[in-house]
Amino acid sequence: MMNHVLMLAALTLAPQDSGAPAVQNPCVTCHEQQPAPAAPGHSFADWKASAHGAVTCDRCHDGDTTATEQQAAHRNVHPSQDRRSRVFAKQIPATCGTCHQQELGYFMESQHYTQLETAQRGPSCVTCHGAMATHVLAPEDLDAACSPCHAPVEGAPPPVLAASRRLLGLTRQTDSLVRSAQSRLDQPVEQRRRDAARRQLRLAQDALQRSRQGWHAFDLALLDSALTQGVRSARRADSILTARPRR
Ligand code: HEC
Ligand code: HEC
Ligand code: HEC
Ligand code: HEC
Ligand code: HEC
Repeated sequence: MMNHVLMLAALTLAPQDSGAPAVQNPCVTCHEQQPAPAAPGHSFADWKASAHGAVTCDRCHDGDTTATEQQAAHRNVHPSQDRRSRVFAKQIPATCGTCHQQELGYFMESQHYTQLETAQRGPSCVTCHGAMATHVLAPEDLDAACSPCHAPVEGAPPPVLAASRRLLGLTRQTDSLVRSAQSRLDQPVEQRRRDAARRQLRLAQDALQRSRQGWHAFDLALLDSALTQGVRSARRADSILTARPRR
């Protein structure tokens, strides 16, 4: 009872002097005032600026959002190294998967998921996206992220990594060709070319969709076939739209 009264008092008395709409989540209200943690992970500023800036702390870390006092609020919040934490390596896919079910479903098909479950080692969502999804892994970052397990054998580049790097490059290329074709479609284009470009664009988008499945399931064969198609269709769409109009 008392707790409730205190909580309401703290919420109404929270310093919101800027006149901006009050953030009602006590994790956010209190952590906004904390110094950046020394532990690896992410800072409040990273969170605020990220795609997850509207996803409150408790959605990934658990805790009690009806409490404003630290100890009570931290019920079920544990450091990420603690196996009870919802962001302990092995728990991360399920935690992210509460909102990203499709990616979780694909990931569960992968050998990495089995590795993570059984050996408690293996890449998870944060390996490629960071804790705040502030990035998607870039081809040049693959070595650092993957070579702890896919290490070069006798100096030769490991085939899994060489293939992954090439396919990640193709993913980006398809993505950017699709974007540029899409923005050209916003400009006046003669109808026949518009239709032809749209058809190719649809094929490229389907291929990108399949490649998302491929990345989350770590299925190199699927990635290869999807992206070969994707980059070809995206190039066609782009060149249909950039060709000089016939006179
Ligand atoms: C009244 C202030 C306050 C509130 C409310 C609060 N925290 Fe914290 N939290 C802290 C402080 C201070 C730390 C730094 C660690 C310490 O000193 O114990 C911390 C640390 C953490 C950590 C780091 C892991 C750990 O255990 O050290 C996480 C994760 C966390 N808080 C999440 C949350 C979540 C989720 C909520 C809301 C359900 C929340 N916090 C509510 C003050 C607060
Ligand atoms: C989208 C999920 C997500 C959200 C939202 C989120 N975190 Fe985290 N947080 C993580 C993950 C995952 C880690 C573990 C670090 C890693 O694996 O890179 C982490 C690590 C941390 C750490 C470092 C200490 C540790 O236990 O590793 C702190 C402190 C922390 N989070 C606080 C917060 C606070 C405060 C908020 C809200 C302002 C918040 N987090 C929101 C996913 C999230
Ligand atoms: C409570 C729901 C929720 C949880 C839990 C969550 N996300 Fe998200 N995620 C979102 C929302 C909302 C967005 C932004 C809206 C959108 O574009 O779909 C988003 C966007 C993303 C994006 C796209 C980023 C971009 O720039 O387009 C990635 C990647 C992502 N999340 C990964 C993760 C990972 C990794 C975790 C776990 C550490 C996680 N999410 C946990 C809700 C969630
Ligand atoms: C913690 C260890 C670990 C990390 C980190 C890791 N992997 Fe793996 N990966 C494995 C294991 C174990 C297998 C199962 C392979 C086997 O049994 O030979 C595997 C399998 C794979 C496969 C399937 C291979 C096949 O023959 O189809 C691909 C693709 C793959 N990994 C790519 C990656 C990429 C890309 C990264 C970096 C984002 C990565 N891995 C990071 C341990 C890891
Ligand atoms: C091998 C690295 C890798 C891992 C591990 C990984 N992802 Fe991704 N993810 C990607 C790539 C690459 C893309 C973007 C593909 C593109 O640009 O089309 C992506 C895209 C996404 C998106 C955005 C999808 C969209 O339609 O915009 C979300 C959400 C996401 N991943 C969530 C997750 C979650 C949740 C996990 C863990 C279960 C996870 N990812 C694990 C590589 C990874």
